[in-house]
Amino acid sequence: MVKSNAQDEMLSLLNWLQTMGVDAAVDDTAHDWLSRGNDAPGAAFPWPDLRDQGPGSKSGPNAVRADTRQAPPRPRASGSTGSPDAARPRAVTPLGASEAETGARRIARAANSLPELEAALQNFDGCGLKATATKLCFYRGSPTSDLMIIGEAPGRDEDLAGKPFVGKGGQLLDKMLAAIGRTEADVHITNVVYWRPPGNRTPTPQETLACRPFLERQIELVSPKIVVAVGGSAAKEILGVTEGIMRLRGKWREITIGDRKIPAIATLHPAYLLRTPAAKQLAWMDLLQMLSKL
Ligand code: URA
Repeated sequence: MVKSNAQDEMLSLLNWLQTMGVDAAVDDTAHDWLSRGNDAPGAAFPWPDLRDQGPGSKSGPNAVRADTRQAPPRPRASGSTGSPDAARPRAVTPLGASEAETGARRIARAANSLPELEAALQNFDGCGLKATATKLCFYRGSPTSDLMIIGEAPGRDEDLAGKPFVGKGGQLLDKMLAAIGRTEADVHITNVVYWRPPGNRTPTPQETLACRPFLERQIELVSPKIVVAVGGSAAKEILGVTEGIMRLRGKWREITIGDRKIPAIATLHPAYLLRTPAAKQLAWMDLLQMLSKL
């Protein structure tokens, strides 16, 4: 069969999209993200008390009050030439990461239950990942559990389902948990960020920092006996260390959440185990460690 030029063009476009990391259609209609102008993801997040009060507060062109959530007027970059570049979203967090974290902390602390925390996250625009994700991935499993599992970030399957660890890696995680007698009904599974990073890249420190207050509040509300960080990136974030996962895994540490100290351990990511089955014996040793504390 002879392919038409149009077919060739479509195929090469698809190929290009795939190379760029686009691996899922998220809507029936295309979104023109450039029409946001200079408003970076997260720019609409309302931080009225931070902007309006106190030393160090900022009031910028992106300032929006909590009760007026319509799109802010599009500011032009100073010295803007009107070129296509000037209309491109800025690749920066609109506020300093620590300022974003403080605002998020205030919102997260106000949530007194997981449904309230989820609602707060649904309204939270301070993490840029939300702009490109399909769904919020809050948690899977039981609302309270002695065992809390924390991974890195939702992937494609999780983004479509709105739940953490539902893809192939999640299925292996479920098998690992079954090996120590656990089902979804008696674990709490989440991630350090709540939205899928584009192309499954590692979340940036700013993205992790913006989600961190919600994660800490989630840990308080779930009230686990132990926390398990799954994979190197989650381990570094949860345990506040910089070593690689092979050095970190299998050793107990303590994390402080609110006024509680909670035993925490890191283990290998199931996606890594799928690629490296020989490492399953290490994961099994980590599982036994978990069992010993539960
Ligand atoms: N990997 C993670 O770290 N988390 C998920 O939810 C899925 C894959």
